[in-house]
Amino acid sequence: MLSLRNTLSAFALSWIATQPVLAINGPNGNSINIPGTPASAVGTTTLLTPPSNMTIKHITIGHGIQNFTCASPSATPVAIGALANLYDVTSFALANETGLAGIPPIAAFQPVDFASNSSLTIAGFGTFPRIGNHFFTSAGVPTFAFPTLNELLSGKSLATINAPAGSNPGPAGTGATTWLDLGDKGGSIGLSGVYRILTAGGLPFKTCQGQNSTISVPYAASYWFLDLTDTSNTLAAGAASPSASASPAVHTNIAPRFHAANIFVVALVTFGLNAWLM
Ligand SMILES: *[C@@H]1O[C@H](CO)[C@@H](O)[C@H](O)[C@H]1NC(C)=O
Ligand SMILES: *[C@@H]1O[C@H](CO)[C@@H](O)[C@H](O)[C@H]1NC(C)=O
Ligand SMILES: *[C@@H]1O[C@H](CO)[C@@H](O)[C@H](O)[C@H]1NC(C)=O
Ligand SMILES: *[C@@H]1O[C@H](CO)[C@@H](O)[C@H](O)[C@H]1NC(C)=O
Ligand SMILES: *[C@@H]1O[C@H](CO)[C@@H](O)[C@H](O)[C@H]1NC(C)=O
Repeated sequence: MLSLRNTLSAFALSWIATQPVLAINGPNGNSINIPGTPASAVGTTTLLTPPSNMTIKHITIGHGIQNFTCASPSATPVAIGALANLYDVTSFALANETGLAGIPPIAAFQPVDFASNSSLTIAGFGTFPRIGNHFFTSAGVPTFAFPTLNELLSGKSLATINAPAGSNPGPAGTGATTWLDLGDKGGSIGLSGVYRILTAGGLPFKTCQGQNSTISVPYAASYWFLDLTDTSNTLAAGAASPSASASPAVHTNIAPRFHAANIFVVALVTFGLNAWLM
């Protein structure tokens, strides 16, 4: 087991070392690098460079399933959505960007538990709290909800590239799902976009032969969430620490954007998820 993990990590470290990177402001005011642009990508050859007015807000591991439908044995599986828990790895990733690449190949092989709020424990890496979840709305919008942070991203696709050759194929052996860059579709709260990179598993079977009419393929990935740089946040601007009486910038800034309609959407989606879980 240990040698399997070390082998997986060695692969992960070798890809990350060879990938060009997309520089972006980190939450601590320093520039950090999103591993981007697999050299082996087919089609679009790069993810988009993050706008200079954006800052990384959270780095999470997503662990869950990618769903597909199969119309007939001769059909090709069609993506219909995904469901994943989001675990906060921000501190780990900022301290050890290369180490982060070792997590999805291990997480993808662990059982998924959508019903509890349990943390993700990866031996040798740490224990990471669950801070949100990823799902698709009934209209097919990729959505990321962080209820206790009052943050929501309604995503729209900006760029998609194939995972680099040698990416972890996941427990179903089908291959690593795409790397992608989502922007704000509108109606997001406190988040403006996300990069999904360092994927493991999640691609469909090549054909529907021998498959059920709906398929769920386990996967894990890292998700790097961005928002407009909060210039009222003196820590991000690299100035002196705010006084103890200063209110948390993240909440004061997003409050005006948290409209009743958004609360309704979150409530509706949460209700739907709970109904499904029951
Ligand atoms: C952030 O930068 C992008 C790209 O340069 C620009 O289109 C957008 O208007 C900027 N947003 C704000 C709020 O300044
Ligand atoms: C994904 O498939 C599972 C069954 O494996 C189902 O319970 C779930 O509702 C589906 N979710 C989406 C978003 O398609
Ligand atoms: C980064 O994480 C990996 C995996 O846990 C570990 O082997 C490595 O020593 C870490 N590097 C640093 C600089 O902490
Ligand atoms: C889930 O766990 C996170 C991290 O431990 C915590 O912040 C959050 O309040 C919990 N959510 C629920 C619904 O229990
Ligand atoms: C199809 O679904 C049944 C019932 O959920 C399951 O037992 C079976 O393993 C599935 N077949 C495949 C090929 O996944």
